[in-house]
This record gives sequence, C-alpha cells and structure tokens, in this order.
Amino acid sequence: MLMPTLDLLKIAYGRFIIGAYNVQNMEQVLAVFRGSLAAQAPVIVATVPFARDYAGAQMLQAMVRAADEMYPGAVAALHLDHGDEAHCLDAIRSGAYHSVMIDASHMPFEENIRVTRRIVERAHAAGLAVEAELGVVTGQEARHSGDAHAALTDPDQAAEFVARTGCDSLAVAIGTSHGAYKFQGEQRLHFDRLAEIQSRLPQNFPLVLHGASSVPADDVARINAAGGRLNPNARGVDPADFARAWPLGVAKINIHTDAHLLWYRVHREHFRDHPENFDFRHPGSIFMQAFEQLIVTRSKQLGCAGQLDEVRVQRYAAA
Ligand code: 13P
Repeated sequence: MLMPTLDLLKIAYGRFIIGAYNVQNMEQVLAVFRGSLAAQAPVIVATVPFARDYAGAQMLQAMVRAADEMYPGAVAALHLDHGDEAHCLDAIRSGAYHSVMIDASHMPFEENIRVTRRIVERAHAAGLAVEAELGVVTGQEARHSGDAHAALTDPDQAAEFVARTGCDSLAVAIGTSHGAYKFQGEQRLHFDRLAEIQSRLPQNFPLVLHGASSVPADDVARINAAGGRLNPNARGVDPADFARAWPLGVAKINIHTDAHLLWYRVHREHFRDHPENFDFRHPGSIFMQAFEQLIVTRSKQLGCAGQLDEVRVQRYAAA
C-alpha cells in the first residue's frame, strides 16, 4: 500500500523512526518492498536526482507502482530526495510522489527560505509534503575543512525557518554527513542540539536525519578482503543511537551508503568466489536478499518493525 509520507511521519513521531532508502534500480526497489513486508515496517522509497538521471524518472516511478502491486501488504511512500527547484517541480507534476525534499541548505538563509516557500506552495497545492533542510550535512572533507560546530542547525533559525516556509519536516545537521567516512575516531552526534531544536519547533513537528548509514565494519572488512579499497577506518552512525533520536522528534532517517556497500561487497565476493559465473542474476539475487535483511535489521533498530497493523489502524481512523 502506498501512503502519504506526512501521514507516516505523524504516526511515527515520538514513537519510532521510518527508514528512507535511496533506490536506483529494480533490485533495490524489490528489496525495499520485501523488507517492509518481512519487517512489517513502513518504509520510504527515496530517489535522488542522480538516480532519476541514471534509471529514468518514469522507470523508477513505474517500478515503485509495480512493486506496490506485487507486495500490497507492504507500506511505502515515494519521496524525492535532495531536489533542486526543477526536480521538485517535475516530481510534483508527475503525480507519483508523496513528498519532495527541496535542498537549498547551501544557500544563504533568506534565499533558502524563498526557494523553500516557492516549493511548499506548489507542493501543497498538489497534496504533497515538503522536507526542507537547514544547516550543513555534507561529505566528510568539507566538514573537516571548517568549523564543524558552525555547520550545525541553529535552533532559533530552525523555528523561524519552519514558521516562514510552512515546510512539513526539517532535515537538521547534528553531526552526520553523507558517505562512508563520517567520523574520525569516535562518532559524535549532538543530541543536545537536537533537543534544543525540538524544543523551539511546533509540537510534533517531524525532524529528519540525513547521513544515517552505519557503514558496518564487517562489510568494509569483507569488501577489502575481496580486493576492494576502502579506508578500514570508515565509520558511520551507531544504530544504537536511533533509540535516542525518536524521543527528540526524529521521524525519518536516510540510508544510501549502506546499500552501496552491500552491492560492492556482494559483487566483489561473487566474482572472487565464482570467476566462471557471469550470470548477473546470481549476485543480483544475493544482493536483494542482503538488502532486504538490512532493512529488517534497521527497522528493528529504528523501532518501526512490527508497526504495520498500527499504521493501518491510524490510517483508517484518519480517513
Ligand atoms: P548516507 O550516505 O549516510 O547513506 O546518507 C544518505 C542520505 O542522507 C541521502 O539523503
């Protein structure tokens, strides 16, 4: 069942977090829907502009529709991740998406507000929700080149931003970054900052954490053992921290890198162990199973596993 993103976030608020998984191919779309069923967890299927360029926006949208028909017991929403204005408008016009993220966080504050406001008006008129971003969630290199603390979301600005833009959820910067190299040494998420942000925002306003892959050490070691070249010190977010984040208003986290690592690991091991086998369905099937299993594991850590009955009850109560 496809369901509006905002309905899911409202149900999740304060009780659990929903995983948003970035997809770019059929294997990932199938695994995300199977993962939702196996975990009995709601999921958000996310597509970044790069994925839409790679697979074709129509193809991704059609795959999500097809997966929904194949797995009607799964619960999912379709979300545009990191859109600029043009991508957001395209997704809104498509009629296939339930929400868009307008990413204007690299712009000055007032410009971010203007751009976000424009997308909110267009999206709300079409019945879609809008995620916006304030603060800097970036790659590790950029974070370490400047004052990382200055890049965190400012709680007062967050309150002003939400009030003036009318956005429905806000991605905040509390120390995560995109990619496999998030932390040097110990990870440090700024929960104190998260609590301050939550206290300044309207009640039950959903927050989002980007850069939430955990970069499993076992995957990194197996990739390198199969001939890959990843920095063995690659570190991600400790999944144990998710349980600290939902009482502080985080209702959605984004996971992209962990799926890339799985793809990398499965294919490297496959070609190392079966050099005679050139049938792409073999590593493809192993990848789908592994990604489905990752979604089951993450859903337990996010507290959203086993929530589908409750989601359906709330959905019909609201209808
Ligand atoms: P990761 O790189 O941690 O998977 O983050 C993905 C993300 O935030 C996509 O928007």
